[in-house]
Amino acid sequence: MTLRALMRLFTLFQFALIANCVESDVVEAVKALFKEINKPLQPVAVTCWSVDASVNFVRSISNSQDYRISIFNDEEFEFSNVEPYQFNVFIVDIRCPNIQRIINQTDYLSGVNIKMVVIDSLIVTTEVNTMQEKMLDLFKDSAILPNSEVYFITRADNKTYNFAEVYRSAINQPLIVEMFLMNSLSDSHGLTRISRRRSLNGIELRASMVVTNNDSLSHLDDYRDKHIDTITKVCYILTNHLISYLNATVSYSIVSSWGYADANGEWSGMIGQLVRNEADLGATSLFFTADRVSVIQYIAMPSSTGSAFIFRAPKLSYTDNIFLLPFDDLVWICLGCLVLITAVCLLITVLAEVKIQSNGTRIDSDSGLLRARFSDVFLLVFGATCQQGSSVTPRSHSSRIITITAFVVLMFLYTSYAANIVALLQSPSSKIKSLKDLLDSRLKFGVDDTVFNHYYFSHAMEPVRKKIYEQKVRNKDGSENYMNLETGIENVRQGLFAFHTESGVGYKIIGETFYEDEKCGLREIKYLDVIDPWYAIQKNSSYLELFKTGLMRINEHGLQERENTRLYTRKPQCSGGGGHFVTASLVDTGPAMLVLVYGYVVAIMFLISEILVKRFYRNSKPRCEFLG
Ligand SMILES: *[C@@H]1O[C@H](CO)[C@@H](O)[C@H](O)[C@H]1NC(C)=O
Ligand SMILES: *[C@@H]1O[C@H](CO)[C@@H](O)[C@H](O)[C@H]1NC(C)=O
Ligand SMILES: *[C@@H]1O[C@H](CO)[C@@H](O)[C@H](O)[C@H]1NC(C)=O
Ligand SMILES: *[C@@H]1O[C@H](CO)[C@@H](O)[C@H](O)[C@H]1NC(C)=O
Ligand SMILES: *[C@@H]1O[C@H](CO)[C@@H](O)[C@H](O)[C@H]1NC(C)=O
Repeated sequence: MTLRALMRLFTLFQFALIANCVESDVVEAVKALFKEINKPLQPVAVTCWSVDASVNFVRSISNSQDYRISIFNDEEFEFSNVEPYQFNVFIVDIRCPNIQRIINQTDYLSGVNIKMVVIDSLIVTTEVNTMQEKMLDLFKDSAILPNSEVYFITRADNKTYNFAEVYRSAINQPLIVEMFLMNSLSDSHGLTRISRRRSLNGIELRASMVVTNNDSLSHLDDYRDKHIDTITKVCYILTNHLISYLNATVSYSIVSSWGYADANGEWSGMIGQLVRNEADLGATSLFFTADRVSVIQYIAMPSSTGSAFIFRAPKLSYTDNIFLLPFDDLVWICLGCLVLITAVCLLITVLAEVKIQSNGTRIDSDSGLLRARFSDVFLLVFGATCQQGSSVTPRSHSSRIITITAFVVLMFLYTSYAANIVALLQSPSSKIKSLKDLLDSRLKFGVDDTVFNHYYFSHAMEPVRKKIYEQKVRNKDGSENYMNLETGIENVRQGLFAFHTESGVGYKIIGETFYEDEKCGLREIKYLDVIDPWYAIQKNSSYLELFKTGLMRINEHGLQERENTRLYTRKPQCSGGGGHFVTASLVDTGPAMLVLVYGYVVAIMFLISEILVKRFYRNSKPRCEFLG
């Protein structure tokens, strides 16, 4: 027998040995590891063992009864054949001949959170270094980034084990081995994986930043010109905090738009850079829209700014007839009834009066006396209602009592009516509450001249929003009411103008240019049908968890709040309330003018009909009869 044949026999023997048993110590160690991980896990054995051995092994290590047994032969195994499941943990044997081929495949999963335990089926070695060297060699070309979990086990003493993980902080960085021990304290023990892997050791991350005004680049963190590219400035400072939290470095690339899909599904701007893997981070937060969710990963909301139409509520008389408002409908009805009832009572008493006192003789000759006609009585009560009095007076005590009572009651009503009108003349209208009201109002519209406003206004689909764009924003001659911030806010100040802008930015200019009393009655109505801007990164990023926890920490520590408060202005307080007066204008007195006009119309109609009646009589009656 040749030496080679002997060797082959030995190898065969060794495989037979492996195929049929896994050291009980190893099983114990893996169980201990699973207990330590303390998460639901679904073991997937990828081994060169016999089926029985694999099944027994998976059964004995499963930490729940409710599992599917997944075993694969290492020869034809592909990660892509396994149903993706977040709790899958792959168990591979370092003694199997195909181990390197399987490990090489982990590149395929670089973005996914891969969980893997590498065991040595025959021994749990005491030598940390031996196992570590083997691991470093196995994974020397794999992209196991901070989101993956690759474990191996060594022995501490007879009953306890050391657990270790390998990963690298970026593709070209060296592998890092993290030890964590069971049943004894060490530095890393008790820290979550994310906090252990926090330091990226100075690797360079690529961030894409949206700058719409070149001048902003020189004022990114000096809090000047806060109203230009505000969101970029807030997110720039927060991104720098995030980078220092991760002990990384960053290189910014500047783009001019957030990115929108064109007809071919190609994304422009910042999203384009993320999709093409030209940037790791989108360092300027962007609107959360359905079409973007499939291409980028939103991770946090660093700034709760929103855009809205800002306008000064118009005077009440623009939206309502203020002469009708002081009284409730019911009061108006009662008032009408009161006038009618009083008139009827008065008429009855006057009729009785006439009957008793004159005994049939005519007394109409005294023009100062109230005659027993409904129109005269009604005119008297109506005059009382309008606080005008009457030239005629009733004669008897009973009718005078009725008149006095009516005068007193109507005086009180008149007083409250007049007082109410004064208040209403000064009030802003609260009628404009929705986009529909805004569309129907007489306000003119303007829109801040930014990339996203151009996009969202011209792409609006919802009927009211579309109408707003077509009727109010786009003029008849095809030009559009986009204007810069200062012009728009000045128009708002002059009234009857709604300006669409980022509210925090708009309020900054308002705070600087409005008089105190003009800050009262500011209203805002949201137009954009999108969620507030979120911070986004590449899809399937290996740093997802790190970025997420980092931004969360920045928020919890108050840094986010600080930057937002410094860069975004809150809605100004209305403090100059009563310090001004409003001159009543034609709009306020409109309804009164209308009454006058109606009066004229009725009078003219009477005139015409009188002339016609007169003519009719003249024509129908013979002249001679008149003469005779
Ligand atoms: C694994 O990848 C390395 C480098 O990419 C290569 O040299 C090696 O041959 C691969 N091994 C197998 C078994 O595919
Ligand atoms: C481990 O076990 C072996 C035999 O089972 C024993 O000789 C040795 O003393 C033990 N070591 C420790 C540290 O307990
Ligand atoms: C940060 O990274 C540098 C390498 O750039 C490294 O020397 C340093 O130890 C890291 N700091 C922390 C706290 O990990
Ligand atoms: C901003 O700078 C870029 C190049 O740095 C240039 O292409 C672009 O035209 C500039 N934009 C404005 C508005 O000046
Ligand atoms: C992200 O991962 C999912 C699931 O693994 C995959 O279907 C998708 O294509 C990946 N997306 C990108 C952009 O890599």
